[in-house]
Amino acid sequence: MKASAPGKIILFGEHAVVYNRPALAVPVTQVHVDVKVSDSLREGIFINAPGIDLHAGLNSLPADHPIASVILRLFQLFGISQFPPLDISITSTIPVASGLGSGAAVSVALIRALAVHVAYPLTNEQVNELVFEIEKLHHGTPSGIDNTVITYNKPVYFIKGQPIETFKVGKPFMIVIGDTGIPAPTKESVGDVRSLWLRDTVNFENLFNEISQIVLIARRSIESGEPELLGKLMDHNHALLQQLTVSSPELDKLVEAARNAGALGAKLSGGGRGGNMIALVEQAKAESVASALISAGARQTIITEIS
Ligand code: PMV
Repeated sequence: MKASAPGKIILFGEHAVVYNRPALAVPVTQVHVDVKVSDSLREGIFINAPGIDLHAGLNSLPADHPIASVILRLFQLFGISQFPPLDISITSTIPVASGLGSGAAVSVALIRALAVHVAYPLTNEQVNELVFEIEKLHHGTPSGIDNTVITYNKPVYFIKGQPIETFKVGKPFMIVIGDTGIPAPTKESVGDVRSLWLRDTVNFENLFNEISQIVLIARRSIESGEPELLGKLMDHNHALLQQLTVSSPELDKLVEAARNAGALGAKLSGGGRGGNMIALVEQAKAESVASALISAGARQTIITEIS
């Protein structure tokens, strides 16, 4: 049985979303995780994930291993205590720990492939809930935005704890994603923002409110088919993320390079400190912005149309 899950980017609202403000995120289908589950002749469950150099039996992994924990929780939910003999192969083109949602995508694809294989079909709501549980195990206090956008594979207007709300894209627009190549665990930047928020609550609440305004205006611009207005909003959101201390010299350098190469605006995307940035571009400029990012040190770029 096979299943895939896309990557994702946060367009606006990261970090503030942890504090109950809205955020906008979209799937990125050019990168994906693919999982294949097949019956095996040997005992137990064997996992093959060459991208993270994992070739191991489930019983040799600690119960809190990101992949083992998905499988164990799923079988617990199904009430299966005797694991069937299975081979699980996991391949991914989503860079790890870079803000493109690789962890949530592995969980979504793995759960879907296993559920279908053992004939326990799950609804999107059940997949989303389960993946959120796993995200909490590994990321401290996640908002749930990654699992939601990846499970539903649609543009999402997300507020923590509220029912999923998708939104329409009035006119397609192009984004160039630039990867700093610096792995940056989201747990750390989220934890650091929390410490700063505890110390300087009024200031941080104001920053979150400002980000929240940007998200609302951005959603309107996207829905009404005026995506060119997003550039300025991205620049503004990036400046606020800098004030939250989650940018880095490398991210700032890529953001600057994109703007200088003709992008309409740019910002970091996701947890920050490393990982990815995004730039809004006119189609004709996409390639030149992407090469400017590579010259400024990006490890890789992805050009994606949001539609
Ligand atoms: O680093 P990513 O793409 O997984 O995004 C994290 C987004 C945050 O708002 C920083 C954290 C969260 O859980 O929403």
